Order: sequence, then structure tokens, then C-alpha cells
Amino acid sequence: MILVIGANGQLGTVLTKALQNKYGLDNVLASDVAKKEGFNGLFEIINATDLERIREVVKKYNVTQVYHLAAILSAKGEANPLLSWDINTKTFLNVLEVSRAENVKKVFYPSSIAVFGNNAPKLKTPNNTSLNPETVYGISKVDGENWAKYYFDKYDLDVRSLRFPGVIGYQSLPGGGTTDYAVDIYHKAVLGENFDCFLNEDTILPMIFMDDAIDATLKLMEAPKKAIKTRTSYNISGVSFSPLDIELEIRKYYPEFKVNFKPDFRQKIAESWPKTIDDSEAQNDWNWKPSFNVSTITEIMIQKLKEQYHIAI
Ligand code: SER
Repeated sequence: MILVIGANGQLGTVLTKALQNKYGLDNVLASDVAKKEGFNGLFEIINATDLERIREVVKKYNVTQVYHLAAILSAKGEANPLLSWDINTKTFLNVLEVSRAENVKKVFYPSSIAVFGNNAPKLKTPNNTSLNPETVYGISKVDGENWAKYYFDKYDLDVRSLRFPGVIGYQSLPGGGTTDYAVDIYHKAVLGENFDCFLNEDTILPMIFMDDAIDATLKLMEAPKKAIKTRTSYNISGVSFSPLDIELEIRKYYPEFKVNFKPDFRQKIAESWPKTIDDSEAQNDWNWKPSFNVSTITEIMIQKLKEQYHIAI
């Protein structure tokens, strides 16, 4: 059985469905702090700060793989650093401990471009470089990466991890991240509204389309164990662009669309992150390659959101 913790979130919603499609409805168990209405499949309530609850579910369903997606993201985390630290680190340590003790075979852990800070090169940021994050989210992800490697080295627990850029998808909404604007902007455009952007127009950040993010996760998890040479976390690159780049792409469909740039505290977080990512380790070790760029992302986002909002195509 595959257990997804944090199945209601931006990635969890889509990854759970992808796992169900790949491995069958009866082989995937979704979990979160509450059940979403209309969810189709196996579900258990798990608050991942409760180690014994994770253990109970892992034993009951004979769980062999865990995808641990629960976390408080970069921008939201700054409102309550201690709580964010506690939630982000405690839940992952609980997952590692239960997995070690109950013989779980594989664990997936999402890390983030937020592990990088101002000492890392901003262009083509390499996998191995200074990690001096500016946010509590980033600090917790560096910590998680090191724990992942520790459990692999010490207990041979097969923990695998990706450093996600901002994830852009039509299926779910992000919450509390610094890259959220790149999803929200499409919703506003399709609804015929203008958009207030909390980043400056020229702030380039690494992003990835949801389909690529899911593809990378499944590829990483299916790769032979010996192919996984990076046991902290792999850089993965999708595409890099600024809010202005998206605005110009959207104008091809909505010529009247306008963005007002009103940078807030998230600007400083964005400026501490890379602009572009070097993911040659992922390319070499398990054949990673993204498929979507800003034009194809824009085309699909607009088409799918129009369908969702029942706007005539
Ligand atoms: N999307 C995340 C954030 O903005 C980055 O991992 O916090």
C-alpha cells in the first residue's frame, strides 16, 4: 500500500490521483487532517505531528511506501516561524521513524528551491552549493534533506527527494508560497479580472508545470535504488520566468489583461532564491527532462481553467 500524507494540498491532490491511476485505486491510501468532499479512494485522517497515529495507519494497511507532502510553505511560514518549524520538521521525523521501525520500503520527501539563499549562485544553481536559506520553510527543508540522508546512511531507509521549483497547475490551488502568484494570475485572467502581483515584474524564479512535477516524482521513485546517488535532494529544473513574461503570454489570449505590481515581503524571499537551476545530476542519474515552457503552460492553464469555470471556449 502507498500512503500519501498531505493529500489535500496543491501537490497531494494531483499526485494521489496519478498514483491511483498508475497503481490502482485499492493500492493508494490518501490522508490529511480532514477528508475533502467527493474524494474517491481510500482515506484515513492523519495529523502527522502524531507519530503513533502514523504508525497505526502504516500497520493497519501494511504500508510499503510513504509520500510525505505535509508542510507550511515559505510565505505563510514567516507568520509563525516556531509553529512552522515544528510542523515541517516533526512530521517528517515521525514519518522517518515509523518507516524505519515498521519496515516501509521507500519514502518520498519534497524539498524546495527555498533551501538556497544569498550565498548560492543565482544562475544555474548547482545541486551542491551553500545552503543558507532566508525562511523558516527553507531551514526546515535543509534539515529534512539532511535527515533523509542520515536515515539512508544509517538505516538503509530508501528516502528520495526533489527540490521543487514553484509548481503551476490548474487542478489545485497553492497556499502560502512565494511562487503562488504564478497560479493565481491565470485564475484572474480567465475570470476577466486584473491581477495584483506581490512580486516585481522582473523577478525571475524557477517554476515547473504540475505534469512535469508529477512525472519527476514518479520517475525518481521508480528508478533503481543504485541509480539514486544524491541522498539529500535533487535539483530539478522546469522553466524560469518573471511575472512580466507570464503577463505577456496571457495578453496573447486576453489583450486587455493588466497586472499591477505591488511587491510585499515576499519580494525579499524571491530575491534570495535562484533564478535558474542546474539539474544535471537528476538528468544523468534518472533521466529527468521537463516538457513544458511558459507558452505551453499558459495555453494549457487558460484552456483548463476556462473549462473549470464553465467559460465558453
Ligand atoms: N512553492 C514554494 C513556495 O513558494 C517553493 O517551494 O514556498
